[in-house]
Formats: sequence, structure tokens, C-alpha cells
Amino acid sequence: MGNEAQDQQYSKKLQAYAHSQKHNLKLIMLVILTNLATIYIFTGPFSFLYHSSASPRDSNSILQELNSTKAQLAATHSLLSELHHRLNSSNLLVQALLIDLTRQQEKEKQSNSADQNQVSLKLGNDELTFALGPHKLPFGYSPMIGSDEIHTPVGASCMRLHDELNRYMTYKIGGECPMDYVLAQRLMLKGCEPLPRRRCHPKSPANYVEPTPLPESLWSTPPDTSILWEAYACKSYQCLVDRKNKPGSYNCKNCFDLQGEERSRWIFDDGGLGFGIDQVLAAKAAGTIRIGLDIGGGTGTFAARMRERNVIIITSALNLDGPFNNIIASRGLVPMHISISQRFPFFDSTLDIVHSMDVLSNWIPDTMLEFVLFDIYRVLRPGGLFWLDHFFCFPSQLNKTYVPMLDRIGFNRLRWQVGTKVDGGVHKNVLYISSLMEKPMT
Ligand SMILES: *[C@@H]1O[C@H](CO)[C@@H](O)[C@H](O)[C@H]1NC(C)=O
Ligand SMILES: *[C@@H]1O[C@H](CO)[C@@H](O)[C@H](O)[C@H]1NC(C)=O
Ligand SMILES: *[C@@H]1O[C@H](CO)[C@@H](O)[C@H](O)[C@H]1NC(C)=O
Repeated sequence: MGNEAQDQQYSKKLQAYAHSQKHNLKLIMLVILTNLATIYIFTGPFSFLYHSSASPRDSNSILQELNSTKAQLAATHSLLSELHHRLNSSNLLVQALLIDLTRQQEKEKQSNSADQNQVSLKLGNDELTFALGPHKLPFGYSPMIGSDEIHTPVGASCMRLHDELNRYMTYKIGGECPMDYVLAQRLMLKGCEPLPRRRCHPKSPANYVEPTPLPESLWSTPPDTSILWEAYACKSYQCLVDRKNKPGSYNCKNCFDLQGEERSRWIFDDGGLGFGIDQVLAAKAAGTIRIGLDIGGGTGTFAARMRERNVIIITSALNLDGPFNNIIASRGLVPMHISISQRFPFFDSTLDIVHSMDVLSNWIPDTMLEFVLFDIYRVLRPGGLFWLDHFFCFPSQLNKTYVPMLDRIGFNRLRWQVGTKVDGGVHKNVLYISSLMEKPMT
């Protein structure tokens, strides 16, 4: 604002100056005209009237006058160009002022819409507003961030889920968090992912015991006292193990029995839909598959098997009516609590392998699935492996939808198997795809 005032003052001064110069110019022009008239009279058709009586002294003074007129003319000329120059610079000044003004207006418009956002956030509680920011950076503008303030991210859909989000953000600051795993995960599944951070302490289980050491931890069922059971129908690991014999469908029904079917997974290659881990690793030079991701990895058995082969796998999992993240961690593996909707938090071309079994399937809307597959392609390094394990769909969808989609992503197929699943009974009208794909080197 100070600058603007200065600029205004300056342009006023400029105007005054231009005005006074104009006035001067008028006087000068008058002088010039008078002089020209004089010259005309003395040299023009009337000069003969004076020639006869003109003395040398007179002609001398005429010359002097002419000389001074010439000087005055030159002065006027430079004055004119000076004025021209000033006019030009005042033009530039006006232009600059106009640009400044438009910028100012745009800024105001932006801050108005930001205010409106603020208002809509205010509909949420204060803790939510506080969590999201914007937070002013203590050292001002940061070239790295490109701003002098920072916002913390939440999923785009969070703001649509006012009631649930407000409930999630209602707690005693510094106190104990509500026992709301189910609410939190439901928010995530509806697209409020990531969730906002909170300032409360999650409840710790009473009688927590330190984890079993590796490598025994890989195949040990953790003690029940290692977690809180409030969020789940089952209240013990034994209950989860026994689920495999119960009617009804549960997410990863027999995954918790680490001594059961889990023990033999990926050990043998049946030459059909079930590939063996060793056969898959043998597709690349020994030791070059080192790090990877298992999408929706249940209780982490794939990562456990890989760990035994010196491959580090991060297992993404949701706690869908079961402590999946907890058991993965208890086994000494790395769980990651994200849904299939979220962009994988890995940089481009960094992972050696991505595996997914029984998760990527026809329950995912086509468009979304294509984005997921492109994201898998993105995080894999050139030559990295994508093991699509038991992708299920209807026969009519195979050649119409999924084969063309996989071709669009651009993987090379190293293995490709289509069939009906044999274990757990043949599902009528369901086809499975198992495929080992490779991201091209170029
Ligand atoms: C005209 O003016 C110039 C410089 O102002 C001077 O050198 C010159 O002698 C003058 N000529 C006459 C005729 O006065
Ligand atoms: C005004 O100034 C600009 C840059 O200073 C120059 O390019 C332009 O030719 C000038 N215009 C006039 C009419 O003098
Ligand atoms: C899909 O196409 C392949 C090759 O064209 C064919 O062999 C197969 O029978 C088709 N499968 C279905 C389920 O349509």
C-alpha cells in the first residue's frame, strides 16, 4: 500500500510537471512565432523597406537575434524530446500500476475463496480446522514449498463426510483417543484418505508383551494381549484361527491360521494358476529382486516367505474385522495401512516387485482399476515384476475388458494363465488370471 501511495504521489507530480512544461512550451512557442514573424519581416518581401536604412550594426543585431532564435529552437527541441521521454515513462508507470492493480484484485479474489473454504471447514470442528492449517512457516517463504504457509493433506472426500469426520476429530487434546478404528477405516474406505492427524494417544493394550524375536516371529501367532479387541467381532487370535471352519464369508478367512494353509502358500508351483515364489524369483538374475510391495497382503505370509529369501516386502492391509496390520507387524514384517484407492507412497521406478492376490479383481470399477495398474507400473523399476495372482472375473469380461486393459498398461507377459480356481471349490462362472508381468526396460 505504501508503494501505491508513493506511486500516486509520483504520478501527480508528473502531471503537475507536465502541466508546467506545457505552459512553458506555450510561452516558448509564442517567442518562436514572434521571432519567426520578425525574421520574416526582415528577410521576406518587406525587407526592402528596411534594407536601405539598415546599418551594419542593425544587421549584426539581427544576426545575433537569429543566432539566439536558433539556440532557443534547439532548446525547444530537446525540451520536446525530454517531454516525450517523460510521457513514455509515465505511460510505463501507468502500465505497471495497472498490472499491480490486477494482481491485487486476483489476490483478493483468491483470498476470498480461501476464506470461503475456511468457512466450510469451520462447519467442521475447531480441531479439524487447526489440524489442516494453513500453518504459517516460521521462517517465511520457503522456495522448496513455494509458499509461506503449509497445509496438511486429507483425502478429497473428507469434506463430504462432515458428520463422520467431525466425530473422528472430537476428542480430548492430549488425552486418550476414542476407540474408533471402525469409524477411521470407514472414512478411509469412503475416500477420506489420508485421514487428518490427531492430537491424542491411542489406547495401549494392558499387559502388552514384547514381540517374539525373529525368525520365530514369522510363523508365531501373537499373544492376545498384544492388541485391543474392541473393534472386532473376534476377541482372540484363536477365534480368528477358528473362523476358517465357520460358515459365512470373512475377509481372508483362513489367513490367521499360520500353521494351516498359509504354511504352503507359494511354496509349490502347480504349473497352473498357482505360481511358486522361487520360480517367480528365478525369472530374474539372482538377488536382483530385493524390495517390493504386496497389495492387500492379508496376514503378511507373502512377505514372510519373501523375507526368508532376503526380499523385503511391505504389505498393505486394512483391518477389516480383524487385526491384519497388527499380526503383520507382530510377525516382524512391515504393514502399511492404506486402501487400494490411494496412490502408492513410493517414488517412480523404485520397486523390484509388486504382488497382489485376491484383491485386484472385478469388484473394482474399471476406470479405477486402470489407474491402480498404471500406478503399479509407475512404482516398478524397469525390469521389475508384477505378479498378478488369482485375479478373478466373469468369462465375458476377460477378453472384453481385462486383457485389453492389461495390454494398454504396457507390461510384458512372462507367464499368463487363465483358469478356474481349484482350491475352495470351483466357483461357477468365475475365471482367474494369474500372470507374471515385467515392466519393459525402456
Ligand atoms: C552565434 O552563437 C554561437 C554560440 O552561441 C557563437 O559561437 C557565434 O559566434 C554566434 N554568431 C553570431 C553571428 O553572433
Ligand atoms: C518508450 O520506452 C520504451 C522503453 O523504454 C521504448 O522501447 C519505446 O520505444 C519508447 N517509446 C517512445 C514513443 O519513445
Ligand atoms: C479369450 O481370447 C482367447 C484368445 O483369443 C481365447 O482363446 C479364449 O477362449 C477367450 N476366452 C474367453 C473366456 O472368451
